[in-house]
Amino acid sequence: MTATKRVVSGMRPTGALHLGNYHGALANWINMQDNYECFFFVADWHALTSDYENPGNIIMFTRQMVIDWLSAGLAPEKSTLFVQSHVKEHAELFLLLSMITPVPWLERNPTYKEQIDALNNKDLSTFGFLGYPVLQAADIIIYKADGVPVGIDQAPHIEITREIARRFNFLYGKIFPEPATILTQTSKILGLDRRKMSKSYNNAIFLSDAPEDILAKVSTMITDPQRQRRSDPGDPDVCNVYEFHKIYSDTDTVSAVNRDCRTAKIGCVECKKQMAKGLIESLAPIREKNKFYTSHPDLVDDIIASGNQKACETAKATLREVRDALKLFS
Ligand code: TRP
Ligand code: SF4
Repeated sequence: MTATKRVVSGMRPTGALHLGNYHGALANWINMQDNYECFFFVADWHALTSDYENPGNIIMFTRQMVIDWLSAGLAPEKSTLFVQSHVKEHAELFLLLSMITPVPWLERNPTYKEQIDALNNKDLSTFGFLGYPVLQAADIIIYKADGVPVGIDQAPHIEITREIARRFNFLYGKIFPEPATILTQTSKILGLDRRKMSKSYNNAIFLSDAPEDILAKVSTMITDPQRQRRSDPGDPDVCNVYEFHKIYSDTDTVSAVNRDCRTAKIGCVECKKQMAKGLIESLAPIREKNKFYTSHPDLVDDIIASGNQKACETAKATLREVRDALKLFS
């Protein structure tokens, strides 16, 4: 019998999650719960690396995000769900790893340069932002993870994590496995305007959106741009609404839309209504659970507290080994 592999992953607290977050990460985490020992956490310290000027929303965003995790199907009896800043050992390991991490590894990190360019309204010339991947490495190896489920954008950070683990093992003896990158399929779901779905673009449908909001949002979706008039035939293969149909509608509806769009038998208004109906129904169980957890904040806090405790036990055990290896007081 082979031991169950352990995976670790985190999300920065962005508040309510949207369909892009769901299909890009959360659905994958939910599927992993039965085959791996899972540690999933809210990376609230990581949020501060870029949003240090506006820390005020973090607690609310953390709770909202955990509520969405639970509503969508992450289960505390299967996975350890916790908050990074509650497990102080992450910070201690981050400090120790920073001693052995060469600065050029961080400076040549592609996401570092990209983010500095992309977020040019923020001053990211900080030590903490440069050290982002070192904290991420600590998050991962503190649980001796075998793998890290992430999107392709995070792959360079997991590569740096392996390099740091290797260097630590070389210097002080083998304590850490080198975690594999478990790539998540990127979400095919685009935003209402066909850009990447993002809270900041204002083009997102949230898991907790009310039916009437979903209907209103779907009605604004951009369709096949070539289809100008109701009488023009359309091409579902270039239409974002059709992508949603493929996920949220039954197969009969999908094939009918595929056929009738091409002959202009169905118009976009009707087509969107049908899709919205399927979407609203699919999200109903999540929406219900979201209402439940939102009205039971103490229950959510209890779930987070017991996850924190479980994570702490593992993290503390690792830190004892690490302090021993470095000949530090324990
Ligand atoms: N950097 C990740 C992101 O922005 C979040 C994160 C922090 C993370 N620590 C992690 C992901 C550890 C996986 C493992 O999405
Ligand atoms: Fe898209 Fe539907 Fe309009 Fe065709 S009918 S272009 S699939 S919204």
